[in-house]
Amino acid sequence: MKNKVGIAVLVSGGGTNLQALIDAQNSGDIISGRIVCVISSKPGVYALERAEKAGIPHYALDRKALGQQAFEAETARIIANSGARLIVLAGFLSILSAGFINNFPGRIINVHPALIPSFCGKGMYGLRVHEAALEYGVKVTGATVHYVNEIPDGGEIIMQKAVNIRDGDTPEKLQKRVMKQAEWKILPASAEKVCAEILKSEVK
Ligand code: GAR
Repeated sequence: MKNKVGIAVLVSGGGTNLQALIDAQNSGDIISGRIVCVISSKPGVYALERAEKAGIPHYALDRKALGQQAFEAETARIIANSGARLIVLAGFLSILSAGFINNFPGRIINVHPALIPSFCGKGMYGLRVHEAALEYGVKVTGATVHYVNEIPDGGEIIMQKAVNIRDGDTPEKLQKRVMKQAEWKILPASAEKVCAEILKSEVK
């Protein structure tokens, strides 16, 4: 039997995208990979409880207290020890340095809650993205999963899904709809796609 690709999931908050990955693993929608660790950039976030409940090794790092360099060094150490070969940023709200990213070429993917290249880049994360979309007045938004390179939200797109904006939307309502209709679907599907490609590239 082929080995599964170990997946490290990086989180910063509630972890609904982590939950979508765990559920996809349990339902068999992710078969080419397996989550081997969850790393949070903040202690005390609910994503860590989700990992605990799923029996996945989890690590709470305090990025602010550690500083970016020590946070990245510790993250890289945990990833190496876990044997993960794919890093999934699932609601991970800080920007990784080029030095870190370049150590994992083509092996980091991210979910962003808008249709890149709209409403993305530095400072565009979480609710701010939906506030910006509503302020601009777009009628369609969505989510994007992309490879991570040194340009924030600038790497090659893997999947996108559009979501309609409705009259009376608030940033909170829109965030929920984008998660439900787009993020929770395309993140697990993209993780499976990339893991399958990694396994395929290893077959002689
Ligand atoms: C999600 O909407 C995710 O796309 C977004 O933060 C939220 C985290 O939710 N990420 C970014 O904005 C990254 N630029 P979650 O913790 O419930 O998965």
